Amino acid sequence: MTTPADRDPAVPAAPAFSFDVLRREPDAEAPDLVAVDATDRLLLDEAAQELAAAGPGGVVVVGDRYGALTLGAVALHGAVDVRVHQDELTGELALAANAERTGVPATWRSLPLTPDLVRAARVVLLQLPRSLEALDDVASLVAAHAAPDVVVLAGGRVKHMSHGMNDVLGRHFGEVQARLARQKSRVLVARGPRRPDDGAAAPAPGERWGSPTRVHHRDLDLTVCAYPGAFAGARVDRGTRALVPFLAGAVPDASSAVDLGCGTGVVAAVLARTHPDAQVLATDVSAVAVASARATAAANGLADRVTVRQDHGLSALADGSVDLVVLNPPFHTGAAVHTGVAQHLFAEAGRVLCPRGELWAVWNSHLRYRSVLERLVGPTRQIHRDPTFTVTASRCGDG
Ligand SMILES: C[S@@+](CC[C@H](N)C(=O)[O-])C[C@H]1O[C@@H](n2cnc3c(N)ncnc32)[C@H](O)[C@@H]1O
Repeated sequence: MTTPADRDPAVPAAPAFSFDVLRREPDAEAPDLVAVDATDRLLLDEAAQELAAAGPGGVVVVGDRYGALTLGAVALHGAVDVRVHQDELTGELALAANAERTGVPATWRSLPLTPDLVRAARVVLLQLPRSLEALDDVASLVAAHAAPDVVVLAGGRVKHMSHGMNDVLGRHFGEVQARLARQKSRVLVARGPRRPDDGAAAPAPGERWGSPTRVHHRDLDLTVCAYPGAFAGARVDRGTRALVPFLAGAVPDASSAVDLGCGTGVVAAVLARTHPDAQVLATDVSAVAVASARATAAANGLADRVTVRQDHGLSALADGSVDLVVLNPPFHTGAAVHTGVAQHLFAEAGRVLCPRGELWAVWNSHLRYRSVLERLVGPTRQIHRDPTFTVTASRCGDG
């Protein structure tokens, strides 16, 4: 059912809402990449009754990709004062841009994954995360802090769902039901939150919910911290492992170095050690990556050497301002394999590097990025190549 519910008269009515005008920008766009999927539509339909009854401030949306859930809840079901958590900054930016595009009133707030996100919530719409640990994180937060009558509607593509997801929800809720699938998506409904019996579940004010996994890697003498859902978890990614031995030779006299797409911050921590005179900045589009990288820096006594910031690319940095950028680029966006994000990050590196500054990158050898790097950054030399990974250094400008 998609009939508008009774609206709060204080909120101006939105014009006719259409999913068709939603876009993914500033995330990568291509004909095969969608801004709204069947799960968004199914979740909104399945939650119609609950959304209509939730009341102002009662609705929370977690994992909204590009704003379809939030805007749909407001425009189609009259939700007001919605709290939203999106891991990726590009999702937040897309939500704002899509609101503008559709004219849906801005009756939502973006919040980090803290108890304030879900306190006293009555309906939680959730795009299921890929990892069970990340689902456990959200489910435990909702169970501990939402209203006792909260209903969680968690949706996903059937091919990405597993019985483990029911089990995780079942750990935190008394009742978990699977609804009928539609267009290869399905919704799980959880009710009856099990409150944790210790009071110790609450983090310090403003601190992210949950705690990171910590693993000490003896070969690197590095403790890696990962909040649930961070890329590679507390492991060291194989590409990063291929890159790390060469980092000491990357612009050794750099006074500024950036770990672009830092994930858990392994490269940033190594750079802080190999370049003791450099200011090191670690950035990632993902909130869980940023929290993990901060924890990694702190766990290795490098918190004063590594600044960590959430950013889309390097938007906060001026052109020509950095000596060294290091990147292990993503080769997918969401579940789709796509080179658009990597190309955007190469271009960002090319923009912020000063003359003679360098981008050091590791990439899957089959991707043949060399000509792209030459075009977007500058002359590119090969530092290492094996059948799986290639490490290159691209020098900016004509230096
Ligand atoms: C292949 S992982 C590498 C992570 C980390 N550097 C490592 O070595 O383990 C790529 C990272 O790029 C981040 N990323 C993707 N799109 C981004 C963007 N537009 N701006 C900044 N980071 C982005 C992802 O969140 C992910 O953490």
